[in-house]
Amino acid sequence: MLKRREFLRATLVTAGALAVPACGGGDDPINTVDDDRELTDGAAFFPQSIASGDPRPDSVVLWARVQDGEAEEADIDLEVEVALDAEFRQRVTLDDGQAKVKALARHDHCAKVKVRGLAAGTVYHYRFIYVKGDTNYVSRVGRTRTAPAPDADVHVRFAYVSCQDYIGRYYNTYLALAEEELDFFVHLGDYIYETTGDPSFQSTGGRGITFTDEEGAIPLADGDFHAARSLSNYRQLYRTYRADANLQRVHERFPMIATWDDHEFSNDAYGATATYSDGRVDETDEDRRKAANQAWFEYQPVDYGEDFEYDPGADFPGDIRIYRDFTFGRHVHLVMTDLRSYRPDHLIPEGAFPGKVVLDQARLVDELGDVPAVAQPYVDIERHGDGIYATALAGAAQAAGYDAADVTGNISVAYINQIVARVNEGLPEDMRIPLIDPQQEGLERGIAYLDLGKMSPHSAIGSRYFAIKDTVDVYSAIRYKETEGASEDVMGAEQESWFLAVMKGSKATWKVWGNEYCLLPLAIDLGPYNVPDAFKRRFYMNLDAWDGFRNKRNELVEQLAEVGNVVAITGDIHAFYAGTVGLDADPEKKIVEFVGGAVSSGTFRELLTSQVTGDPVLSGVPGAGLLVAGIDSVFTSTETKINPHLAHANSHANGFVVVEASGDAFLVDMRSIEPADVKTDYTDRRGDLKVESKRFRTLAGESDIYRDDGGTWKRWDASRQRWI
Ligand SMILES: [Fe+2]
Repeated sequence: MLKRREFLRATLVTAGALAVPACGGGDDPINTVDDDRELTDGAAFFPQSIASGDPRPDSVVLWARVQDGEAEEADIDLEVEVALDAEFRQRVTLDDGQAKVKALARHDHCAKVKVRGLAAGTVYHYRFIYVKGDTNYVSRVGRTRTAPAPDADVHVRFAYVSCQDYIGRYYNTYLALAEEELDFFVHLGDYIYETTGDPSFQSTGGRGITFTDEEGAIPLADGDFHAARSLSNYRQLYRTYRADANLQRVHERFPMIATWDDHEFSNDAYGATATYSDGRVDETDEDRRKAANQAWFEYQPVDYGEDFEYDPGADFPGDIRIYRDFTFGRHVHLVMTDLRSYRPDHLIPEGAFPGKVVLDQARLVDELGDVPAVAQPYVDIERHGDGIYATALAGAAQAAGYDAADVTGNISVAYINQIVARVNEGLPEDMRIPLIDPQQEGLERGIAYLDLGKMSPHSAIGSRYFAIKDTVDVYSAIRYKETEGASEDVMGAEQESWFLAVMKGSKATWKVWGNEYCLLPLAIDLGPYNVPDAFKRRFYMNLDAWDGFRNKRNELVEQLAEVGNVVAITGDIHAFYAGTVGLDADPEKKIVEFVGGAVSSGTFRELLTSQVTGDPVLSGVPGAGLLVAGIDSVFTSTETKINPHLAHANSHANGFVVVEASGDAFLVDMRSIEPADVKTDYTDRRGDLKVESKRFRTLAGESDIYRDDGGTWKRWDASRQRWI
């Protein structure tokens, strides 16, 4: 009788031989090797170790980077070995194109190979060998897994992560994730952060990065820290991050499916445009964007399709296309989007002049049939008061860096009064300029940038963050109509039609959208809180996310709700949320979203604290600190009912999410660690690291969310904002 081990081996070989067409013309895809050449530990030549990605039923991409100080300029030949076992006795026969790969100097000695002809749903082991003289230096052994066959009725188990700031932070999240049994993991972006220590959100102590090509980087805050700009800068980030032992362990154990968000290029970017100066200068920089893209191409194990060759001479965004989809048996279709390359500028430009009226009364009446309650009085600045207000404003505008051209035409009365009050402070009483009475008869009403939330010049607040919901809703809808959707064309026409076609054509139980940033509307209503009257309003928290594309969101969700069983998995916001995304007009037409916390980056609550203390207006609002500390109860308030669709909110935790998807259920386990625990390295004391678990699910054929309440599943009732 065969011993158990031999029996298993024989079975695997047979299974492989049956399922796999012969590779490279060989007869048998599995080649049993007993005697092998002598291998020497070459881990030092592979300082970023190895990785795999984009698993499909018959293929997977393998990645390595080799570094040899004696061959810095030369292309280096590597050999690839793939086997069913970790000892490499049951070897997969690879054709020459796959068994030998060149680590090109011009790609920073990164090498990738797409191994084809593999068996579906199978664990493989792989390694790279660098033959140097007479010595065979071998990398660590990686483990990967192909996707199950499209018709396989199997559970799929995967994790998803996002946002792994390295500066002063440690990858304890990955320490815990590496212990899981997974088919793959999804990275939803912010794999790197492009700045070397931005004090507004990064740590300034602990481990750090100094660019070797500092000349090629962008100095920020008078050179206190830098942002990557050159190819060398971006490569250095990947090299450094990928040298982390815990990140390596995860790559060595599971294939990754990645997309990018903003920080792979630049914070809150759109297309090739950065936003560091908040509109003071034009930060469009295609060379920088292409450097970021090239480094991503080199370092991430991504399958770009058969014929793709990276061309550094191609124009952005045509240089690289990363949106793509994957099937895992009958139950999971994973659709990964790119929500940064094709999107337009934010609705409210950072450099917008706060007083400028963007919708006047005639236009509002024209569009809406009436002047909405949110409209505010304005005057024609040249005509009103014989032009004295124009003079008062011109000085203030110039001091804030605006053109004289901004201070013409219709200007918000509230804004004029703010400036005039400030000007008056320095004047003797008889010279003071009278404030304009906003209640006086005959004033027209409209919407100015100020009414949209733009309180300070050149600021992200009131532009990307913390904009006034009711006016944004009116303005964005009119802009959307007048630009025929271009104002919110977040995917670009080509990607969007691909996305909808894939979603609608999918036969899988679960259509899983690998989505970079929050779809869930996330607003707060400060009406009942103890804040100055000007702040007793409803605010969107983040227009850099889907709240900034709400009309497009409505359009897409309407179609996705029709498709059914669509679940968005999301990162970016550094928080754990569970909720549904419904149509504004019909919240019951909805899809489900589970948002996962950051691997290591500062939590959403920490970011809010930093935004409030860093903003000249918000920092002066009494009680703002308390509101931030209690942000989750502000989000889920049953008094304001501002986010009834938000079933779960934890804005102050790090971690990852594990999904188990079957024909019946999409089960989500949010694994969180304490934010303080990302600041120290737990690698040598894993036992001390606490990982909490919170489980949710949605069921096939529904779009409701359930929470595991100690063994019983309770359903979120949005109308009562309760688990029942
Ligand atoms: Fe992030």
